[in-house]
Amino acid sequence: MPTLTLDLLAVPVGVLQIPSVEQVDTVLLSLVVPTYNEVGNVVLLVEKLTGLLDRICPNDYELIIVDDDSPDQTWEIARSLLCEYPNLRVMRRTAERGLSTAVIRGWQASRGRLLGVIDGDLQHPPEVLEKLFGELVSGSDLAVASRHVVGGGISEWSVFRRMTSRGAQILGLMIAPQVVGRVSDPMSGYFMVRRSSVTNQILNPQGYKILLEILGRGEIEHISEVGYVFQERQDGESKVTWRQYVEYLQHLVRLRSDGRLEKFQEQFPIGRFLKFGAVGFSGVFVDLGVFWMLSNGLGLAAVTATILSAEVAVLNNFIWNDRWTFGDRSIQQPGRRSMVRRFLKFNVLCLVGIVLQGTLVGLMSKVADVPAIGAKLLAIALVMLWNFWINLKLSWRVTDTK
Ligand code: GDD
Ligand code: MN
Repeated sequence: MPTLTLDLLAVPVGVLQIPSVEQVDTVLLSLVVPTYNEVGNVVLLVEKLTGLLDRICPNDYELIIVDDDSPDQTWEIARSLLCEYPNLRVMRRTAERGLSTAVIRGWQASRGRLLGVIDGDLQHPPEVLEKLFGELVSGSDLAVASRHVVGGGISEWSVFRRMTSRGAQILGLMIAPQVVGRVSDPMSGYFMVRRSSVTNQILNPQGYKILLEILGRGEIEHISEVGYVFQERQDGESKVTWRQYVEYLQHLVRLRSDGRLEKFQEQFPIGRFLKFGAVGFSGVFVDLGVFWMLSNGLGLAAVTATILSAEVAVLNNFIWNDRWTFGDRSIQQPGRRSMVRRFLKFNVLCLVGIVLQGTLVGLMSKVADVPAIGAKLLAIALVMLWNFWINLKLSWRVTDTK
């Protein structure tokens, strides 16, 4: 836990994982405000938020401003307020930039059992905090301020901005419906969440949409929504550029595929496959070398030399695969007998692989008229995939016996 320095909060580094808090030194609510060039808003914001929080959870909250080294010195002004507002904390980030990570770093440094986020430009009406807070106290895991429910709305956004926001939402529903479809305003940057719902994951947000990350990775059961009207900016301007839209799409694709990517990795571990390929490649040289020695050196007939050298290559590959590629699995099956069993399975599968290769080359060159060398290379690649997968599932299978 970063220590509270006299003035600025220490900036957490490393993975974006929110620690759980020991019961002792917690507060009920930590409200994070991400700021970038908000010098014209920050004083009024702190005054309004403090007045409200003093009322809804007196002396049991902290207000954390996370500023990304604003050129307009927002963090400096915020720091000058520390002596007047005892529950105010200020973090100045210089090594990282971005709205979502600012919020998470703020939550990492926080002590609250409930975590909240609100913009620093007064476009999110502070009084809605009371309703969000009430929803969490009555049991929700997440309470979202939404522009698209009863009591919600947008003050004076241009038609273009409204269309892009809605368009982004529809796109999100197509790419990651299981995330974007859970709330009416997935783009909202104004919400509160129970800390325990977001402490077990390493978060990996991108751009502005911190709520997507919480919906996608948090352990969120009960969600409430509270209507609010998105206000006009009092000072400064929006930092949203086309970049945020690109990051939004990248974020959605990642949220959608993350689970699938991990599942695919489980079924087909790429790292292990690359090792298997390297071993297979070494086998080619062993095969050729032994063949040369047997045929040229000892004068054996070509067929005999081929069979013997192929078998030596299979033995070479088995030893490497058993020790390196699948070493973590072999040690779970100790003893000579189980090793011999693994070797026999591997050997049979290699022979089946050779037959498969021959069949594929025959099919490709006869039916599809593929040149022999092309057919051979393609057959080697396909049979290697098959060989890897079947050996993973058969020869070096580890059955998790409960
Ligand atoms: N620390 C930090 N770093 N803060 C940032 C950064 C950054 O890189 N970029 C923006 N902020 C702060 C701004 O200072 C402001 O307090 C808040 O994040 C929102 O930024 P705006 O640029 O004002 O965004 P917006 O008003 O167009 O959109 C906001 O409201 C929408 C509706 O809730 C954002 O919160 C959107 O994410 C949200 O969808
Ligand atoms: Mn704004």
